[in-house]
Amino acid sequence: MRLAVCSSKGGVGKSTTAANLAVALAGRGRVLAVDTDPQDSLGRAFGVVAKGYDDSLARCLEDPTASARDVIRHDVVPRLDVLPSHPSLEAVALQLSNSGGLITSVRRILRPLMAEYDHVVLDTRGDLGGLTLAALCAADAVLTVFTSDPGSALGVVRVAGFIEQQRAYENTSAVLLGAACSAWDRGGRAARQVLEALQATGVPLMRTMVPLSRRVPSSTLDKLPVVLASPTSPVACAYRALADEVCSTAERMLS
Ligand SMILES: Nc1ncnc2c1ncn2[C@@H]1O[C@H](COP(=O)(O)OP(=O)(O)OP(=O)(O)O)[C@@H](O)[C@H]1O
Ligand SMILES: [Mg+2]
Repeated sequence: MRLAVCSSKGGVGKSTTAANLAVALAGRGRVLAVDTDPQDSLGRAFGVVAKGYDDSLARCLEDPTASARDVIRHDVVPRLDVLPSHPSLEAVALQLSNSGGLITSVRRILRPLMAEYDHVVLDTRGDLGGLTLAALCAADAVLTVFTSDPGSALGVVRVAGFIEQQRAYENTSAVLLGAACSAWDRGGRAARQVLEALQATGVPLMRTMVPLSRRVPSSTLDKLPVVLASPTSPVACAYRALADEVCSTAERMLS
């Protein structure tokens, strides 16, 4: 599975979800976590930081002769490799967008690597711009996320519409597996309203709700996804359950 974690909204837990799912999926096979966001949060979740353009995705996208193998950090966690981003990706994306190479750029660099990995997890930036489309173009499955904040529901609906539109343009054949709550505020009035609003949209919702937990931001300080920092915590169990649900949904929808 090549899974893109997307939302048109920023700050809804995409990178946290991508990092924890990548770790959970590494329990099932070899995983490559790819950061397509110039904010480079996915790598940072593991303490992986590119020094510059040269050791990041930015170079692989811009230079057709560069191999992603040269910038991938191997076994950051057993069976999990990371392809880090860097802020220079912003300028590279702009340039590729002008020359016409952006949409297929991530797919192009991942193609020679596919035989080496059972799963690829792509983190995306919080918009529906060219870099997000490039990630969708490299994916066969999409997970969108929302929080207990009412604004995040709109991000789910917009991603669902965007995927449909881009499928019609044949820019991607990725299927939307569903929307997952990345920070469930059990008992919160706003959280209930978000859920009710999303149930009415017809977008499939994942059964697993990742709880709001103070352990998540504190694991960032340890430079470890919470699945590794507090493996027996309820939030870690939820991420592992979400990974199982994502895999079973993908098996059903992609077969
Ligand atoms: N389950 C959770 N419980 C508590 N805090 C959480 C949870 N999930 C994510 N967060 C916090 O929410 C904030 C935003 O998370 P994250 O960076 O993953 O969002 P994002 O969608 O990737 O943001 P951006 O659009 O900026 O890339 C972070 O401070 C993170 O620690
Ligand atoms: Mg992020």
